[in-house]
Amino acid sequence: MNILHIDCSPRPESYSRQLSAAIVKKLLEAAPAAIISRRDFGAGPLPHAAPDYATALSSPAMLAAPPSGALDLSEALIREVEAADVVVIGTPMHNLTVPSVLKAWIDQILRVGRTFVSTPAGKVGLLRDRPVFVGIASGGVFTGEKANQPDFLTPYLSAVLGSIGLKTLQFLPVQATAFLAGDQATLAREKALAALDLTVMGEVPCSIA
Ligand SMILES: Cc1cc2nc3c(=O)[nH]c(=O)nc-3n(C[C@H](O)[C@H](O)[C@H](O)COP(=O)(O)O)c2cc1C
Repeated sequence: MNILHIDCSPRPESYSRQLSAAIVKKLLEAAPAAIISRRDFGAGPLPHAAPDYATALSSPAMLAAPPSGALDLSEALIREVEAADVVVIGTPMHNLTVPSVLKAWIDQILRVGRTFVSTPAGKVGLLRDRPVFVGIASGGVFTGEKANQPDFLTPYLSAVLGSIGLKTLQFLPVQATAFLAGDQATLAREKALAALDLTVMGEVPCSIA
Protein backbone atom coordinates (compact mmCIF):
# COMPACT_ATOMS: atom_id res chain seq x y z
CA MET A 1 0.00 0.00 0.00
CA ASN A 2 1.24 3.49 -0.84
CA ILE A 3 0.41 6.43 1.40
CA LEU A 4 0.79 10.01 0.20
CA HIS A 5 1.23 12.08 3.37
CA ILE A 6 0.82 15.82 2.97
CA ASP A 7 1.21 18.54 5.60
CA CYS A 8 0.32 22.17 5.15
CA SER A 9 0.94 23.98 8.42
CA PRO A 10 3.83 26.45 8.55
CA ARG A 11 4.21 25.53 12.23
CA PRO A 12 6.62 22.66 13.00
CA GLU A 13 4.72 21.55 16.13
CA SER A 14 1.27 22.02 14.76
CA TYR A 15 -2.02 20.37 15.65
CA SER A 16 -2.76 19.34 12.06
CA ARG A 17 0.71 17.80 11.73
CA GLN A 18 0.18 15.77 14.88
CA LEU A 19 -3.21 14.69 13.59
CA SER A 20 -2.00 13.65 10.15
CA ALA A 21 0.90 11.77 11.75
CA ALA A 22 -1.57 9.95 14.01
CA ILE A 23 -3.71 9.01 11.00
CA VAL A 24 -0.65 7.66 9.17
CA LYS A 25 0.28 5.71 12.33
CA LYS A 26 -3.17 4.08 12.35
CA LEU A 27 -2.76 3.16 8.68
CA LEU A 28 0.65 1.67 9.39
CA GLU A 29 -0.81 -0.43 12.21
CA ALA A 30 -3.17 -1.93 9.62
CA ALA A 31 -0.55 -2.13 6.87
CA PRO A 32 2.98 -2.19 8.37
CA ALA A 33 4.66 -2.59 4.97
CA ALA A 34 3.05 0.52 3.53
CA ILE A 35 5.32 2.91 1.66
CA ILE A 36 5.01 6.59 2.53
CA SER A 37 5.55 9.45 0.10
CA ARG A 38 5.90 12.78 1.80
CA ARG A 39 5.01 16.32 0.78
CA ASP A 40 5.48 19.05 3.36
CA PHE A 41 4.00 22.17 1.83
CA GLY A 42 4.24 23.99 5.13
CA ALA A 43 8.02 23.63 5.16
CA GLY A 44 8.47 23.75 1.38
CA PRO A 45 5.58 25.43 -0.43
CA LEU A 46 4.99 24.84 -4.11
CA PRO A 47 5.22 27.90 -6.33
CA HIS A 48 2.00 29.56 -7.34
CA ALA A 49 0.83 28.72 -10.86
CA ALA A 50 3.68 29.91 -13.10
CA PRO A 51 3.15 31.99 -16.27
CA ASP A 52 3.87 29.04 -18.59
CA TYR A 53 1.50 26.77 -16.66
CA ALA A 54 -1.28 29.35 -16.68
CA THR A 55 -0.67 29.91 -20.40
CA ALA A 56 -0.88 26.17 -21.07
CA LEU A 57 -4.23 26.07 -19.30
CA SER A 58 -5.55 29.17 -21.02
CA SER A 59 -7.19 27.41 -23.99
CA PRO A 60 -7.56 23.96 -25.55
CA ALA A 61 -5.15 25.01 -28.32
CA MET A 62 -2.47 26.07 -25.82
CA LEU A 63 -3.00 22.89 -23.82
CA ALA A 64 -2.48 20.81 -26.97
CA ALA A 65 0.90 22.51 -27.55
CA PRO A 66 2.01 23.87 -24.17
CA PRO A 67 5.23 25.81 -23.57
CA SER A 68 8.13 23.42 -23.01
CA GLY A 69 8.17 22.08 -19.45
CA ALA A 70 5.03 23.97 -18.49
CA LEU A 71 3.22 20.86 -17.26
CA ASP A 72 6.16 19.10 -15.62
CA LEU A 73 5.37 20.03 -12.01
CA SER A 74 1.68 19.31 -12.48
CA GLU A 75 2.49 15.94 -14.04
CA ALA A 76 4.85 14.96 -11.21
CA LEU A 77 2.26 15.86 -8.55
CA ILE A 78 -0.56 14.06 -10.36
CA ARG A 79 1.59 10.93 -10.65
CA GLU A 80 2.18 11.03 -6.89
CA VAL A 81 -1.58 10.99 -6.36
CA GLU A 82 -2.01 8.21 -8.92
CA ALA A 83 0.64 6.13 -7.17
CA ALA A 84 -1.09 6.50 -3.80
CA ASP A 85 -3.68 4.06 -2.50
CA VAL A 86 -4.57 6.52 0.21
CA VAL A 87 -3.91 10.23 0.74
CA VAL A 88 -3.51 11.77 4.20
CA ILE A 89 -3.63 15.56 4.46
CA GLY A 90 -2.93 17.59 7.57
CA THR A 91 -4.12 21.15 7.15
CA PRO A 92 -4.96 24.19 9.20
CA MET A 93 -8.05 26.26 8.47
CA HIS A 94 -6.84 29.64 7.24
CA ASN A 95 -9.46 32.33 6.82
CA LEU A 96 -12.33 29.87 6.64
CA THR A 97 -10.76 27.63 4.01
CA VAL A 98 -7.58 25.81 2.98
CA PRO A 99 -4.20 27.53 3.37
CA SER A 100 -2.70 28.89 0.17
CA VAL A 101 -0.01 26.18 0.13
CA LEU A 102 -2.71 23.52 -0.20
CA LYS A 103 -4.47 25.58 -2.86
CA ALA A 104 -1.17 25.71 -4.81
CA TRP A 105 -1.17 21.87 -4.89
CA ILE A 106 -4.80 21.78 -5.95
CA ASP A 107 -4.00 24.19 -8.78
CA GLN A 108 -1.47 21.67 -10.09
CA ILE A 109 -3.45 18.44 -9.72
CA LEU A 110 -6.72 19.67 -11.25
CA ARG A 111 -5.83 19.74 -14.94
CA VAL A 112 -8.40 19.56 -17.68
CA GLY A 113 -7.84 16.64 -20.03
CA ARG A 114 -5.55 14.97 -17.51
CA THR A 115 -7.39 14.55 -14.20
CA PHE A 116 -10.85 15.64 -15.31
CA VAL A 117 -12.87 16.36 -18.40
CA SER A 118 -15.28 19.22 -18.68
CA THR A 119 -18.81 18.29 -19.74
CA PRO A 120 -22.07 20.25 -19.98
CA ALA A 121 -23.04 18.57 -16.72
CA GLY A 122 -19.80 19.59 -15.02
CA LYS A 123 -16.34 18.19 -14.42
CA VAL A 124 -15.94 14.41 -14.60
CA GLY A 125 -12.97 12.94 -12.76
CA LEU A 126 -10.43 10.74 -14.49
CA LEU A 127 -8.59 9.41 -11.43
CA ARG A 128 -9.57 6.22 -9.67
CA ASP A 129 -11.19 6.90 -6.32
CA ARG A 130 -9.16 6.27 -3.16
CA PRO A 131 -9.60 7.35 0.45
CA VAL A 132 -8.46 10.83 1.43
CA PHE A 133 -8.21 11.43 5.18
CA VAL A 134 -8.05 15.11 6.07
CA GLY A 135 -6.92 16.12 9.56
CA ILE A 136 -7.94 19.73 10.14
CA ALA A 137 -6.88 22.12 12.88
CA SER A 138 -8.84 25.30 13.45
CA GLY A 139 -8.37 27.99 16.06
CA GLY A 140 -12.14 28.40 16.36
CA VAL A 141 -15.13 26.15 15.71
CA PHE A 142 -16.51 25.60 12.21
CA THR A 143 -18.66 22.49 12.57
CA GLY A 144 -21.10 21.17 15.13
CA GLU A 145 -23.49 22.93 17.47
CA LYS A 146 -20.92 25.48 18.63
CA ALA A 147 -19.83 26.52 15.14
CA ASN A 148 -19.46 30.28 14.95
CA GLN A 149 -17.93 30.70 11.51
CA PRO A 150 -18.64 29.46 7.99
CA ASP A 151 -16.85 26.41 6.66
CA PHE A 152 -15.47 26.88 3.16
CA LEU A 153 -12.78 24.24 3.75
CA THR A 154 -14.59 20.90 3.78
CA PRO A 155 -17.11 21.68 0.99
CA TYR A 156 -14.31 23.15 -1.11
CA LEU A 157 -12.03 20.13 -0.73
CA SER A 158 -14.96 17.79 -1.41
CA ALA A 159 -15.76 19.71 -4.60
CA VAL A 160 -12.25 19.99 -6.01
CA LEU A 161 -11.03 16.52 -5.12
CA GLY A 162 -14.39 15.04 -6.12
CA SER A 163 -14.06 16.69 -9.51
CA ILE A 164 -10.97 14.62 -10.29
CA GLY A 165 -12.49 11.40 -8.95
CA LEU A 166 -11.41 11.42 -5.30
CA LYS A 167 -14.79 11.10 -3.64
CA THR A 168 -14.04 9.05 -0.53
CA LEU A 169 -13.10 11.84 1.85
CA GLN A 170 -13.09 11.83 5.64
CA PHE A 171 -12.66 15.04 7.60
CA LEU A 172 -11.24 14.75 11.11
CA PRO A 173 -11.21 18.14 12.81
CA VAL A 174 -9.44 19.31 15.94
CA GLN A 175 -11.23 22.55 16.68
CA ALA A 176 -10.81 25.50 19.03
CA THR A 177 -7.05 24.98 19.15
CA ALA A 178 -6.70 28.56 20.38
CA PHE A 179 -8.22 27.46 23.67
CA LEU A 180 -6.61 24.03 24.13
CA ALA A 181 -4.33 23.72 27.13
CA GLY A 182 -2.33 20.83 28.57
CA ASP A 183 -3.94 17.44 28.07
CA GLN A 184 -6.87 18.94 26.16
CA ALA A 185 -4.85 18.86 22.92
CA THR A 186 -4.22 15.13 23.25
CA LEU A 187 -7.86 14.50 24.13
CA ALA A 188 -9.04 16.58 21.17
CA ARG A 189 -6.76 14.63 18.83
CA GLU A 190 -7.93 11.30 20.22
CA LYS A 191 -11.55 12.41 19.80
CA ALA A 192 -10.89 13.35 16.17
CA LEU A 193 -9.09 10.06 15.54
CA ALA A 194 -11.99 8.07 17.01
CA ALA A 195 -14.01 9.09 13.96
CA LEU A 196 -11.42 7.58 11.60
CA ASP A 197 -13.17 4.88 9.59
CA LEU A 198 -10.65 2.55 7.96
CA THR A 199 -13.35 0.28 6.58
CA VAL A 200 -13.32 2.49 3.46
CA MET A 201 -9.89 1.02 2.71
CA GLY A 202 -11.65 -2.17 1.72
CA GLU A 203 -13.98 -0.36 -0.69
CA VAL A 204 -11.30 0.82 -3.07
CA PRO A 205 -9.18 -1.35 -5.35
CA CYS A 206 -6.03 -1.35 -3.23
CA SER A 207 -4.59 -3.92 -0.89
CA ILE A 208 -4.16 -3.11 2.79
CA ALA A 209 -0.82 -4.87 3.05
C1 LIG B 1 -3.47 33.18 8.48
C2 LIG B 1 -4.33 32.42 9.46
C3 LIG B 1 -5.69 32.41 9.30
C4 LIG B 1 -6.49 31.70 10.20
N1 LIG B 1 -7.83 31.65 9.99
C5 LIG B 1 -8.61 30.93 10.82
C6 LIG B 1 -10.00 30.81 10.57
O1 LIG B 1 -10.55 31.33 9.61
N2 LIG B 1 -10.73 30.06 11.43
C7 LIG B 1 -10.18 29.45 12.52
O2 LIG B 1 -10.89 28.77 13.24
N3 LIG B 1 -8.85 29.53 12.77
C8 LIG B 1 -8.06 30.26 11.95
N4 LIG B 1 -6.71 30.34 12.18
C9 LIG B 1 -6.14 29.63 13.34
C10 LIG B 1 -5.61 28.27 12.93
O3 LIG B 1 -6.58 27.51 12.23
C11 LIG B 1 -5.18 27.49 14.16
O4 LIG B 1 -4.11 28.18 14.81
C12 LIG B 1 -4.76 26.07 13.84
O5 LIG B 1 -4.47 25.37 15.02
C13 LIG B 1 -3.55 26.08 12.92
O6 LIG B 1 -3.23 24.76 12.56
P1 LIG B 1 -1.83 24.12 13.01
O7 LIG B 1 -1.89 24.02 14.51
O8 LIG B 1 -1.82 22.81 12.33
O9 LIG B 1 -0.76 25.07 12.55
C14 LIG B 1 -5.90 31.04 11.30
C15 LIG B 1 -4.50 31.07 11.46
C16 LIG B 1 -3.73 31.75 10.55
C17 LIG B 1 -2.23 31.74 10.72
